[in-house]
Amino acid sequence: MDSSPEQRFNTVYSGSGCYYGLEVRPEFSGYFDKRDINGLAALDLGCGEGRYALFLAAKGCHVTAVDCSQAGLSKLKTMAAEKCLPITPCMMDIATFEFPEAAFDIIVAATILDHLSGDLRRRTISGIKSALKPGGVLYANAFTVADPGFKLARLSSRQASRAGVSETAECMAHYFDREELKAVFADLSIIDYYEAVEPDHSHGRPHYHGWACLLAKKRAAAR
Ligand SMILES: C[S@@+](CC[C@H](N)C(=O)[O-])C[C@H]1O[C@@H](n2cnc3c(N)ncnc32)[C@H](O)[C@@H]1O
Repeated sequence: MDSSPEQRFNTVYSGSGCYYGLEVRPEFSGYFDKRDINGLAALDLGCGEGRYALFLAAKGCHVTAVDCSQAGLSKLKTMAAEKCLPITPCMMDIATFEFPEAAFDIIVAATILDHLSGDLRRRTISGIKSALKPGGVLYANAFTVADPGFKLARLSSRQASRAGVSETAECMAHYFDREELKAVFADLSIIDYYEAVEPDHSHGRPHYHGWACLLAKKRAAAR
């Protein structure tokens, strides 16, 4: 694969259709399907082709969708225009994203925190916390040390594919430890958190992922 995240994901998104499909994870749809979120402001960080942004915009949210991949964002732009959905695509590296304070009711960080290393990941985590409005909801998921890619990261992609590892495993910067995703957002109120190893049928050869999935709410400021 090419070296920078934008080159890698431009290649990943270059085919027809959506690489990861348009389905969102069930804990996300299960939570937001039951709620009236019409008119709320949402941020989808590392949106890719935008399945989470499209879901939220279809329910009436105004979505800012950030990604460094031109190919992913141009597909999202086309789909949003076809459906007249209020999505603002922002092509940029998250490293340069200025997190506006208390600006979003909903923030999505789906398989992005694990693509960011060290200081950039920590900056993004603290940016998410400050950009959420009090009472705002974060959905984050990330791959964990239970992911087959964690142990097999050093194999060639051909060997890794055979071993049931995602073909994009080499894009990973950080596999979250057990309970780490929950711990880094411990200052939010946890609504739902789980870790599991599950098959992923959305793309590529058959493979598994070790997931940590979190829904959490920013506490209202103390009076
Ligand atoms: C595994 S994909 C997830 C896409 C989307 N969240 C989803 O669940 O369908 C990771 C995405 O993060 C983006 N990405 C990785 N590093 C980035 C960075 N530093 N700045 C902006 N986007 C980045 C990639 O371009 C890619 O679209």
